[in-house]
Amino acid sequence: MTPRSPSRRRLLGSLVALPASLALPSAQAAPAPLLTRSAPSSGEQLPVIGLGSWITFNVGRDPQGRADSAAVMRAFFAGGGRMIDSSPMYGSAQEVIGEALRALKPASLFAADKVWIGSGAQGPEQIETSRRRWGVPRFDLLQVHNLLAWDEHLPTLFRMKKEGRLRYFGITTSEGRRHAEIEKIMASQPIDFVQISYNVLDREVERRILPLAREQRIGVIVNRPFRQGDLTQALAGKPLPGWAADIGCTSWAQALLKFIVAHPAVTCAIPATSSVAHVRENLLAGAGRLPDEALRKRIIQDVERLA
Ligand SMILES: NC(=O)c1ccc[n+]([C@@H]2O[C@H](COP(=O)([O-])OP(=O)(O)OC[C@H]3O[C@@H](n4cnc5c(N)ncnc54)[C@H](OP(=O)(O)O)[C@@H]3O)[C@@H](O)[C@H]2O)c1
Repeated sequence: MTPRSPSRRRLLGSLVALPASLALPSAQAAPAPLLTRSAPSSGEQLPVIGLGSWITFNVGRDPQGRADSAAVMRAFFAGGGRMIDSSPMYGSAQEVIGEALRALKPASLFAADKVWIGSGAQGPEQIETSRRRWGVPRFDLLQVHNLLAWDEHLPTLFRMKKEGRLRYFGITTSEGRRHAEIEKIMASQPIDFVQISYNVLDREVERRILPLAREQRIGVIVNRPFRQGDLTQALAGKPLPGWAADIGCTSWAQALLKFIVAHPAVTCAIPATSSVAHVRENLLAGAGRLPDEALRKRIIQDVERLA
């Protein structure tokens, strides 16, 4: 593997609004244009709102749970969504995603999965099992889940990318774990994406990881945007402040997402949901105006006071 080169091509991470209808799998309702950000290593435009799958899509063989998950995915693609994130750690989620993909056949999927096994030698087999569960020809992105045996898996992912069997690779963590190691890898390895936890109340990544991502041209995927639902629950029923309307928010969930995707280092957030209404609401947060720095500070103050 070659170390990260300081001369790596600099690409603008500017926001672009594309008509959501361009990304629709069928001629269904086209909501407001979804904002996109460029993947720093390629310039590919990605919608700022993706979809997580931990817990929400781990529904086992329950037919209703599978139908509900497919309905969420249908609404996600219809609203211009592309990135779905999963992992072999998420129980039946990969299979549930695969079943829905076979029915929906979306034209615009960005398949993001993970390798999560303690031995590098077993990584390729696990990746192949995951790929079969999704039913995709190849993953767009593979991430080393929670840095597990990262030094053993990265050479595999690097090789897969070089051979055209993978488009991007990266690493993940959550809840602030092992940030020093994440920084070390970001500074020394040619990764395309880093996935971290970031939300209005958990902002540690603002100090070093987000600036480093911009410096090293690494895309940032944000997990736990709602603190796994704790934030949306804590704010439920609390009146929305006046500023919410100024940035087109009709719910706290949208304000929480807009806060995240307004950070210039962030490529996208991946909220998980089991609800069609929520996935539509979350996608709308990826459209229209985003808060400026002053308003982001206001959002922090209000959420710290109310949550
Ligand atoms: N180390 C890692 O790699 C790592 C760690 C954690 C997470 N992740 C990834 O990041 C994804 C997101 O994180 P997460 O699942 O932990 O938590 P999250 O996205 O912060 O929260 C999910 C919860 O928020 C609720 N929710 C979603 N949209 C809502 C809305 N509009 N209004 C009210 N409630 C809403 C959902 O409930 P409903 O079902 O009722 O909508 C669900 O319970 C995961 O699914 C996974 O793909 C990766």
